[in-house]
Amino acid sequence: MKNMSSLGACLGVLFMLGCGGGDKPAETATPAVAPAGPAYPVDLANGKLVYDKACYACHTTGVSGAAPLTDKTRWQTQADKGMPTLIKHVTEGFTGTFGTLPAKGMCMDCQEKDLYDAIHYMMNQAGVQPKY
Ligand code: HEC
Repeated sequence: MKNMSSLGACLGVLFMLGCGGGDKPAETATPAVAPAGPAYPVDLANGKLVYDKACYACHTTGVSGAAPLTDKTRWQTQADKGMPTLIKHVTEGFTGTFGTLPAKGMCMDCQEKDLYDAIHYMMNQAGVQPKY
């Protein structure tokens, strides 16, 4: 007598193991948190104080490649970069196609908040809206 059932049982086990592909765990979505507004409450009066102290030297008439406040087109281009980029450039310094913005706009005793206000004041004077 030949035992034919052992082969069938073996194939059955292989088939069941082969079907055991589990579902991948669902990817955990990490939504990009886009700040909806300014990082600080904006104080334009403080911004003017900072501007008059440090930024005006270059930005009033456009010394050494700085965008004068009357140049709305350039300020629009700058505003389009968004505040996170601009505050980084002003804090660390930035060399672009027009010239070099020194770190902190040469306002060495300015806090980040002061620079933030100054950028808003300058955009306000230029007639452009900040982007966040
Ligand atoms: C020594 C001159 C100088 C001073 C002082 C100065 N800037 Fe500027 N700033 C520049 C120049 C030049 C550029 C243009 C760089 C470019 O786009 O090539 C610039 C660009 C900028 C930009 C646009 C940066 C970008 O990413 O396009 C901002 C914002 C800015 N300045 C803010 C300030 C503020 C705020 C102060 C004062 C705290 C200040 N600057 C003081 C020369 C100056």
